[in-house]
Amino acid sequence: MKNGIVKVIGIAAALAAFSAPALADGDADKGKKVFNKCKACHALDEGKNKVGPSLFGVLGQPAAKVQGFKYSKALKGSGLTWDEDTLEKFLAKPKALVPGTRMAFAGLKKEDDIENVIAYMKANGG
Ligand code: HEC
Repeated sequence: MKNGIVKVIGIAAALAAFSAPALADGDADKGKKVFNKCKACHALDEGKNKVGPSLFGVLGQPAAKVQGFKYSKALKGSGLTWDEDTLEKFLAKPKALVPGTRMAFAGLKKEDDIENVIAYMKANGG
């Protein structure tokens, strides 16, 4: 099922706006609560950087691309694109996927929380 999702992301890369709802896999309502853990550092509003960068439009976007945010060298040099798969790995354990990242967050332990928070982000401009 994960492979299917990755394939869909590949096909729909150019159509990111359309792909988002079709990919919704987690529960955005439940994800809202999970996103409370991110809110201290992140907003989903365009251009609103806090301790962490704005997460507006982050899905489908290469890492470290928000204007005006000072990223770590680690994230800038990561070469990652935030599709569902990389985001799942990052949120499970940021420092495992991007050693040296400045995101001071241990990670989400439950796979459901990760899927739900990604669904919430997608449904809210992320
Ligand atoms: C303590 C503050 C903090 C918390 C909590 C936090 N983050 Fe972050 N986040 C950051 C910082 C700082 C960066 C930039 C990291 C770097 O430059 O290495 C970042 C980067 C990111 C990125 C990459 C953005 C980009 O433009 O490449 C994503 C996606 C992300 N965070 C999602 C989340 C989510 C989802 C949560 C909640 C589950 C969360 N973060 C919790 C501080 C935080």
